[in-house]
Amino acid sequence: MKLWGGRFEKTTDALVEDFHSSISFDQRLYKQDILGSVAHARMLGSVGVISEEEANRMINGLMAILEDIQAGNVEFEIGAEDIHMNIEKLLTERIGPVGKKLHTGRSRNDQVALDLRLYLRSEIDETKILLEELVNTLLNISEEHLETWMPGYTHMQKAQPITFAHHMMAYVQMFLRDLDRLKDTRKRLNTSPLGSGAMAGTTFPLDRMQAALELGFDGVTLNSLDGVSDRDFALEFLATASIMMMHLSRMCEELVIWSTGEFQFITMDDGYSTGSSIMPQKKNPDVAELVRGKTGRVYGDLVALLTVMKGLPLAYNKDMQEDKEQVFDAVDTIQKCLLVVEPMLKTMVVNREAMARGAKGGFTNATDLADYMAKKGVPFREAHELVGRIVLHCSKKGIGLEDMGLSEYQGISPIFEEDLFGAIGIEHCVRARKITGGPSPETVAEGIRVSREGLV
Ligand code: ARG
Repeated sequence: MKLWGGRFEKTTDALVEDFHSSISFDQRLYKQDILGSVAHARMLGSVGVISEEEANRMINGLMAILEDIQAGNVEFEIGAEDIHMNIEKLLTERIGPVGKKLHTGRSRNDQVALDLRLYLRSEIDETKILLEELVNTLLNISEEHLETWMPGYTHMQKAQPITFAHHMMAYVQMFLRDLDRLKDTRKRLNTSPLGSGAMAGTTFPLDRMQAALELGFDGVTLNSLDGVSDRDFALEFLATASIMMMHLSRMCEELVIWSTGEFQFITMDDGYSTGSSIMPQKKNPDVAELVRGKTGRVYGDLVALLTVMKGLPLAYNKDMQEDKEQVFDAVDTIQKCLLVVEPMLKTMVVNREAMARGAKGGFTNATDLADYMAKKGVPFREAHELVGRIVLHCSKKGIGLEDMGLSEYQGISPIFEEDLFGAIGIEHCVRARKITGGPSPETVAEGIRVSREGLV
């Protein structure tokens, strides 16, 4: 017999039973569902809708069910459809008819909205810890490599010399913004929809605030239709997760490139690489690749839920049952990725010499040569043109800008003096960029200090 079976003359078709039931996946919400019911029962008791004694029996029954589920002693029933009705049914089986009063003034519509908010709130907290660990590791790596010179790129062509610390600190900024987005999502999701009922609230004198506070919410939702049909919080989470995955993916893509034989900027630890079943020499950066690949799943989760929600009239519609698997998948994926990327970074070896060699070649100091001229009064655009021609000349000769003699420079323009070579030395090019946000070791060290503060 269904909990909603009263108005039905026939049983649910077996195909439909399987099709519409969500217990196979929403059982993941058992704890949130039970704690939500405990708060609801306690509140029903304290406002006098049921007696305190009835409330206590329910609460004890619910807590015993929680323990049994955690101990693996509960089998859920597909016939009871979802986690909400499974728990309610179990409760009534265990404590008798008083269990049937639990659903007073409540609907599965506000119940499921509540459960998902509670679930996401704790997963956001968990994700924040993992992301903070990743940021911390990146900060430590950066601290070690303030003077590890490397080429910076635009268009994947060598651009200007920077340091490995500066490069990794760019990711720190991205991940700190992701952290901020997570905190922001949490703040907005933290209002309780309980009391919205099916869609029009209830005539019972529920104390919504009491239940909300017991569950750690900052307040209650202010419109019952919105309370049951809002999934913005899940979408915000998925959007935040997608952006974070995009950042992880870009970083992983660089690790993949840097670990090629052509670059050799980094060497992945054996523990975070895999081999080939045919090519004996292979050591592949599979972990980084897979993180890059998993980004697609999380985008898919976001787009799937956006699409589910886009045409839904108010208020609850069964379509919304499709929110959970997307959210669960994204939570699992981002947490696994964060968990594996952090030690992968920690264990990789940074090849300082290869990076420094890369920083030197490819005329990465050409801008500094033009700047040198501009500082001596040559209009920058003219200096740019002239340096362009010097680059062309040097590249034909197969030498760097620093390899051309002073007399040859002076033949081009009398403004060149002995100090030129100091100005276009790779180290100097980096050290002189002390501008806020720039790559000089002292600026990056300051960036690390400020970012560490952002972590607490
Ligand atoms: N299993 C449902 C879901 O996940 C719970 C809410 C069902 N409400 C309803 N009126 N059918 O959305």
